[in-house]
Amino acid sequence: MDSTTDRTAPAASEASLTGDDPAPLLPPGPALPRSIQGVGFGIARRRVLQRLQARYGNAVTVHLPIYGRAVVISDPALAKALFTAPQESLTNVDPNLGRVLGEQSMFALEGTDHRRRRKLLTPPLHGRRIKGYEAVVEEKTRRELDSWVVDRPFASMPSMTRITLDIIIRTVFGARDDELVTLRRVIPPMVEAGSAVVITPELPARVGTVGVGTVGAGSLGPRGRFARYKKVYDDAINALIDRGRRDDRLDERDDILAMMLQSTYDDGSSMTDEEIRDELTALLVAGHETTATTLAWALERLSRNPAVLDELVAEVDAGGTDYRHATILEVQRSRPVIDLVGRHVQAPHLDLGPWRIPRGYNVLVAISLLHDDSAHFAQPERFDPTRFLDTTPPPAWLPFGGGTRRCIGAAFATMEMDVVLRTLLSMYEIIPTAERDEKWHSRGVAFAPHRGGRITVRRR
Ligand code: HEM
Repeated sequence: MDSTTDRTAPAASEASLTGDDPAPLLPPGPALPRSIQGVGFGIARRRVLQRLQARYGNAVTVHLPIYGRAVVISDPALAKALFTAPQESLTNVDPNLGRVLGEQSMFALEGTDHRRRRKLLTPPLHGRRIKGYEAVVEEKTRRELDSWVVDRPFASMPSMTRITLDIIIRTVFGARDDELVTLRRVIPPMVEAGSAVVITPELPARVGTVGVGTVGAGSLGPRGRFARYKKVYDDAINALIDRGRRDDRLDERDDILAMMLQSTYDDGSSMTDEEIRDELTALLVAGHETTATTLAWALERLSRNPAVLDELVAEVDAGGTDYRHATILEVQRSRPVIDLVGRHVQAPHLDLGPWRIPRGYNVLVAISLLHDDSAHFAQPERFDPTRFLDTTPPPAWLPFGGGTRRCIGAAFATMEMDVVLRTLLSMYEIIPTAERDEKWHSRGVAFAPHRGGRITVRRR
């Protein structure tokens, strides 16, 4: 990636710039061909981002296979400017999960449609509603943890994935135990294949809900695999929606599907079946793997930081919460599972700090660079929850992204991680390890510990 700077790289779609539009002013960046930048990015994205920042600073212009022409920023003020820019000038980063979840999912909606949907879904994912789910989270956690083996190391990630999946299936889909089986079987491989599709260049027509557009279920590779799983999944979801529509005691249910079926937009209209199906899938895909991966990192971090672990256990035994909350913030700072969030410039240009970025560019916020920067977090290499005690996270802490597209499930995920950790620490002793830190492993959308967050436990 080391090469000459290129302050005036040509715009992705100069033709779309209006005639009297001022010339773009792009940050510097490597002048290497897109294929070479892409290989570096594909193989060692985290390291490449660090090198780019070291060489070019907190704003770098790149040219990549998946994101095309893009500006990568790692400055909290620029990130804030991006997140608060007029929404008409930006759309969601392209590509995004909407390409596999469907055009009626929140990821794919823009402008007024996006705002309307967020407004409808915010209440069920916040406040009192979330508090009501704590008992479900504890019950699902206990059920999974009861089967853990003791005194033998094992990867925690599969277990964490089963817990977060069961929680979503119950709290979001409102599925009964007998309906769980198909969903449990089909969702993990569907999400894995879907994740691969998102980061695979040259996307086909949308992988549809029942029909699969140009990608037949017989196609090879992740797209074909995804289409096959998605068909089974859609049938199961359609059955849940049908049952909900016929349920005359819907108002007694506490799941998010029941709320979607009953809620109305400001103009009095209801969500269609297609909107509900795509949105349920969005909540599922966005919600369960990210949370499970963060939990696996938490266990990887705790087993290597015995002093933090001791403090946490003492607090759980005393019924406290503050140190655990700070620990969750620190896990997300030091091991953010999503390292890039972004927006696509839709207006003729976007003024961002000193830069003028033309239409067609993606602007990507490098979360991991911000979180590792000593200008924002003293001694960033130290795992130290006390940096978050009695204070709110600084603007550079961005594991959930920001602005009008900030993760809508952030409060839900935080509650989930809190209850899972509390339950786990009250049931088991985690045995500290002297093993090396687990490396980062890209699972498509999320970065996971490459050995699955291995731990050894003993019953308390
Ligand atoms: C630790 C767990 C989680 C992490 C790290 C995470 C992270 C993120 C990030 C980085 C974004 C993009 C934000 C942006 O573009 O600015 C996002 C969006 C989103 N997340 Fe999460 N998320 C988590 C859990 C959840 C959960 C539990 C749910 C649902 C129950 C959820 C639902 C969503 C949805 C629907 C969006 C799209 C929002 C929009 O486009 O308006 N996430 N999440």
